[in-house]
Amino acid sequence: MPAATNVFNPFPHDWHSAEYVSGWITHDVARDPERRPLLQQMFGAAPFARDAELQVLDVGAGYGVVTEETLNAFPAARVTLQDYSQPMLDQARRRLSDRLGRLSFVLCDLTDPSWPRQVGGPFDLGVSAIALHNLRSPEKIFACYRAIHDLLKPGGCFLNCDRFVEGTDRHVAELRDAGFGRVECISEQAPRAILVAARTDA
Ligand SMILES: C[S@@+](CC[C@H](N)C(=O)[O-])C[C@H]1O[C@@H](n2cnc3c(N)ncnc32)[C@H](O)[C@@H]1O
Repeated sequence: MPAATNVFNPFPHDWHSAEYVSGWITHDVARDPERRPLLQQMFGAAPFARDAELQVLDVGAGYGVVTEETLNAFPAARVTLQDYSQPMLDQARRRLSDRLGRLSFVLCDLTDPSWPRQVGGPFDLGVSAIALHNLRSPEKIFACYRAIHDLLKPGGCFLNCDRFVEGTDRHVAELRDAGFGRVECISEQAPRAILVAARTDA
């Protein structure tokens, strides 16, 4: 009889379990060759000079992949990593231990109306990847779009690479309603897409 293989099952998510998070990261890192170029394409759309001293908010930062790509694109940036999973933020702190001076960590839940106050700001750039769809309810996601808009400085920008199972049209419309003057989808491989939302009030 063949030996049983211990295959990691990512569903259902259990972001508060250190064991689940560790398994999820091992599974996720294997997707780097597909995922990193997408994130790099996303950062290519940020309207800032490479040496800009940006204040950046990473929404649903997880173990820090997006923050790492932020610092590759903008080495002088300071990043606030927001997540509600302590195990994820612990992993991020470990992985980015050589750059802790540029980082802040905020443990809070995006469904808690006080989360925008907890992360501080204002920020030049908001970034997020495969995080907001976890909220499941469109209303909760759209409330985050409004909060992120209000956390940005005039001229600020929000880059969001996520899964949009019902397409991006409503998300583009909601980002415009949230106050972003320019919103575009720069990549779509359904259900994954990259949305760029810029404040045009600088
Ligand atoms: C798929 S992981 C993505 C992590 C990271 N952005 C990346 O690209 O590797 C989703 C993240 O969203 C976080 N998350 C899910 N629901 C959340 C909520 N309600 N509030 C804050 N973070 C949440 C999870 O803890 C997890 O770290």
